[in-house]
Amino acid sequence: MSEQFKRDVDEGFSKSPKSLSSKYFYDEIGDALFVKIMHLPEYYLSRAELEIFEKKSNQIIDGFQIEKGKYFDLIELGAGDGLKTKELLKCLLDQGFDFNYVPIDISQNALDKLEESLKKDLPTLGIRKRQGDYFDILADFNKTNLPKVILFLGSNIGNMTDEIAAQFIYELGANLSANDKLLLGVDLIKDASTVLPAYNDSKGITAAFNLNLLHRINKELGGTFKVDQFSHQPEYSETDGFAKSFLVSLADQEVYIAALEKSFKFQKDEKIATEISRKYNDEIIKGLIKKTDFKVVKKLTDEKNYFANYIFTKS
Ligand code: AVJ
Repeated sequence: MSEQFKRDVDEGFSKSPKSLSSKYFYDEIGDALFVKIMHLPEYYLSRAELEIFEKKSNQIIDGFQIEKGKYFDLIELGAGDGLKTKELLKCLLDQGFDFNYVPIDISQNALDKLEESLKKDLPTLGIRKRQGDYFDILADFNKTNLPKVILFLGSNIGNMTDEIAAQFIYELGANLSANDKLLLGVDLIKDASTVLPAYNDSKGITAAFNLNLLHRINKELGGTFKVDQFSHQPEYSETDGFAKSFLVSLADQEVYIAALEKSFKFQKDEKIATEISRKYNDEIIKGLIKKTDFKVVKKLTDEKNYFANYIFTKS
């Protein structure tokens, strides 16, 4: 990770405009900040998706088109705290479906916590947690002949460019068989007065989340960032549906990074692009799956139409 981090920082700060991948938000501090973000009044995404799972889990299950008595694997990519999934798991157990729940995550710590909480709340659930890279694990699972349902929730796909997202969905499909399902949770395009505050909360948690990237470079790569010399800046265009986050340099400054034995210059008002949080509509979703073997089975939304869960089937 550290070698990759070094390379990505070097590359991202050497080009113009500068950028750094949002995947580096998530160290221990970043994980904790993201949990706080999910509970912020401005961050509507988690609540909207939770509402869908609370009110429409039965419709979601119908969309899976699975016969009772037929064993299947329910595989979640990037499991998180499992709050939404728990609603679905409860319904599946209540209806007497036979399945294994397979949460996949990079973080062993996140998986252990999730398992502990599931064992308490749903003692009859079969859990097979897997730590590691999504595709390595899916390739492994493809060797069993069980039908599969993949969950990719929380609009996590929104951090990818459309090109990479389409490739990602294609590769998921390549690891599935005919009639397997994908449940994809995405944030929908809506007006800026709702989206922008979600990425610029009044308590400054999102700002701290973004600025944590610079703290991480200081800690892990011997950086000399004066973090208070940068500020968090969100942007959103309702026309194209891209929310973007930046770190803006508040002065002309030079920052030495020991691990790279190099200094980088930042001009006053120069921006580092740190995250895209894409928002979607039916047309964009259609574009993403155009070159894959997936077809839309169902779309479920919350009452305000803020968020959607699409169910796709593989042909
Ligand atoms: C976890 C990627 C869905 O983009 O909305 C929250 C991360 N960034 N606040 C998002 C995030 C700033 C979040 N995702």
